[in-house]
Amino acid sequence: MAIEKTTILVFGGSFDPPHSAHISMLEEAVTLIKPERVIIALTWLSPFKKEHFASFSQRRELLSIALKKCSFADICYISDFEFKRRKKTYTWQFIKHLKNKYPNSEIFFLMGSDSFVSLDKWRKSEYIKKSCKLIVAIRKGFVPKKSGALFLNKMYPPDSSTEFRERALFCDFSLLHSKVAKKIKKHGLYFADLACAMKENMSEKRFLHVANTALLSMRLAKSHGIDIKKAVISALLHDCAKELPFKKQVSLSLKLFPESLVRKISDMAPLAIHQFASAALARRKFGICDKQILKAIAWHSIGEKNPSKLGKLLFICDFASYDRRHESAKKVREIAFSSIEKAYTKF
Ligand SMILES: [Fe+2]
Ligand SMILES: [Fe+2]
Repeated sequence: MAIEKTTILVFGGSFDPPHSAHISMLEEAVTLIKPERVIIALTWLSPFKKEHFASFSQRRELLSIALKKCSFADICYISDFEFKRRKKTYTWQFIKHLKNKYPNSEIFFLMGSDSFVSLDKWRKSEYIKKSCKLIVAIRKGFVPKKSGALFLNKMYPPDSSTEFRERALFCDFSLLHSKVAKKIKKHGLYFADLACAMKENMSEKRFLHVANTALLSMRLAKSHGIDIKKAVISALLHDCAKELPFKKQVSLSLKLFPESLVRKISDMAPLAIHQFASAALARRKFGICDKQILKAIAWHSIGEKNPSKLGKLLFICDFASYDRRHESAKKVREIAFSSIEKAYTKF
């Protein structure tokens, strides 16, 4: 007697964080193939990334929340295969694991068209194609030839996790399930806590400048291999004391810097005193103890003699943030994406 095959739908990714497009893709694929099981292959560390913004456990928690109300919640589970391995895992390894665990199954592998167009570059892509039926969700900007897979009908955004992380700097959580957004804010993931604290504590114009500085800083840090966390934190906090009264800025500065230096700057360049005050406030109110971050904030306005790469980055991003419309800002932004050093020498 022939044993009926179990249909399994697999969807892999970093889910950093899980967002509404992920869930829509899954819903559409489930409607199409009506699987008996849906397995989420949550990556420990994506082969395409150095690190994730949230830990495996945090991403798993967010995924569980996002999946809870889905139509297929009762047949869906998040695999802990990569969590147990605790190392970079390739898709073919996960598929092989599933084939061993469910020998009598038909596996459908859901992927975005951005991944599908580069599938031939993946490790053991032939094995993946032979072992699974591919289902492709078309993402804007990545419209492939419609062959070699099943294609979903809807059009999806290009990379919503990146877009979400950038929007979070502006306290925009609209791409997420409300309970996922709530958890992210509660745990301060994706810099949501700092960004929202800035929004609450400064004028709208200043906050837009701060968020735009952080956005440029995040993008440049990513493209130059600079510590993204330090880059974004220093950018979000760099003007945190700028709207305080001058006297308050001076008194704050004196908490962290020598009196002679504070007096000298407040006499010679009073507008620049906010750089010391912001560093002091970043430490006292926001608990930032990292010396590199504090130093970058402390000299972001007038620059320092021997700045670190982080210091140069913040200086550039403050000058050339996306809210600055002047031509020289655009020019510096352009140069900065090819070289931080070259952009810095423009000053
Ligand atoms: Fe500033
Ligand atoms: Fe600024």
